[in-house]
Formats: sequence, structure tokens, C-alpha cells
Amino acid sequence: MNILILGDIVGRVGRRGVKEVIPRIMEKHVVDFIIANGENAAGGNGLTPEIAQELFAAGINVLTMGNHTWDKKEIFTIIGDARIIRPANYPPGTPGQGYGIFRVKGKNVAVVNLMGRVFMAELDCPFRKMDEILLELQAVDYIIVDFHAEATSEKIALGWYLDGRVSLVFGTHTHVPTADERILPGGTAYITDVGMSGPLNSVIGVKTNLVLQKFLTQMPQRFESASGPYIVSGILVSLTEDGKAENITRIQYIERE
Ligand SMILES: [Fe+2]
Ligand SMILES: [Fe+2]
Repeated sequence: MNILILGDIVGRVGRRGVKEVIPRIMEKHVVDFIIANGENAAGGNGLTPEIAQELFAAGINVLTMGNHTWDKKEIFTIIGDARIIRPANYPPGTPGQGYGIFRVKGKNVAVVNLMGRVFMAELDCPFRKMDEILLELQAVDYIIVDFHAEATSEKIALGWYLDGRVSLVFGTHTHVPTADERILPGGTAYITDVGMSGPLNSVIGVKTNLVLQKFLTQMPQRFESASGPYIVSGILVSLTEDGKAENITRIQYIERE
């Protein structure tokens, strides 16, 4: 089972990037399933029905979310779509679903989205939430977790906590890839952050001058996604029949200026 993961898709540039890059990846690699983080796909904040449709049409099978899930009010018309997964550790009764089970090559693949709590909103405990979810996923062949979190320590800790219990834990949210991809001793593939698919010349996707103004003046700024060439970041992971990982490789495509 070969899975492609693409990090937070930021705005128009990020969408153009994934649409151009996915076919190039598929030419070179066997890919059975594509998961991307969609929390920034609509103008940098949130997701709309049209944009979700555009990304599914580009070949993405599942969109995971994060702290920007509710930024566009139109999300409420599609949050029930089984292919859109929002953090599972929101309070009980929150619209949408925290995980989904997908049929891929005759196997059941679960995709779970969790959000961290360090330097972020105070959601329910992601560690205990995952314990609960695992009880519901006992008959599933592969379990893949997008841990949308700020702190590297919290992400690494969850990787160890789930080692041997899931196939893959990948991080999103910082928009910056980390070079720590590995297979943990229990057979779980892990990376702290897969990085973003968005504007290359930006501050984590946002127009550089706006972010600089904010830092220099401490005045409020209306952030906008940057334009220009894209960077598409992600990982390719291969999983064996027994649900363990055998390979995790970082990928990155940068558009020529
Ligand atoms: Fe993000
Ligand atoms: Fe985020």
C-alpha cells in the first residue's frame, strides 16, 4: 500500500501546485491513496465546497483539517462529506467526523485527524482521544494519523505513544517540513511535519510584507496568501500487508520562477 501525503495546501498557489505535481508524482511512483491537509486551501483560511471539489478532482482522496477548519462558513455545507476529516478531539457534538474508513485495494484504511494543545486551542486530550478511537478501529488494516500541532515535542511524543499501534503518524500545521522522517521501532512511520503546498516566497504561505509589518509594528494586519511560484511538500509512505511501514520518503517540488 503506497500512500502520498501532501502538507497544508495554502490558497490558489498551493492548489495550482498540487494539481500540477500530483500527475508528476504518479508518473514516477505507484500511489494508491492521497491524503492532503486542506485547512488553508481557500485563500489561506478554511475550505469551501468548490475548492474541496477542485482538490478531489485533482486526485486527492481525503482532506484533513486543523485549527482553520471553521474559518469559511461554507464549510458547514460539506463538513458531513466522509472525505473531509476534522480534528477528532474537538468537544463531543462538534459537526463533522474525526476519522474516516476508506476502502483501498481491498483493504480498510482509517484516516484520523488530531489537533495538538501546546500553543493551540484547548481541545480534549489528543492522546486519550486516540486511545478511544483505536478501540473503534480494531478491524481496520491501516491507520493513518495527521497530527495537526505546533510543538515538535507534542508531535514526537504522540509518535512514540502510537508506535506499533498505527501505520503512520505525520505532522501538519507549521508549514515547514522537518528532516526527522523515520520508522519507529514498533513499525510506525513518523515525521514531525510534512511542510506545506503553497507560495514559495512567503512567510508560511502569507505575503511577506504583511507579516513583516505585523512584527515591526505590532499593529493588526489582514493576512493574505502570497502569489508567485509554488513549493509542494509531502511524503511517500509504503506499508506492508501487516499494517507496518517499510519506507517513508520526503518529497518536494519547487516551481521554477
Ligand atoms: Fe496550516
Ligand atoms: Fe493549522
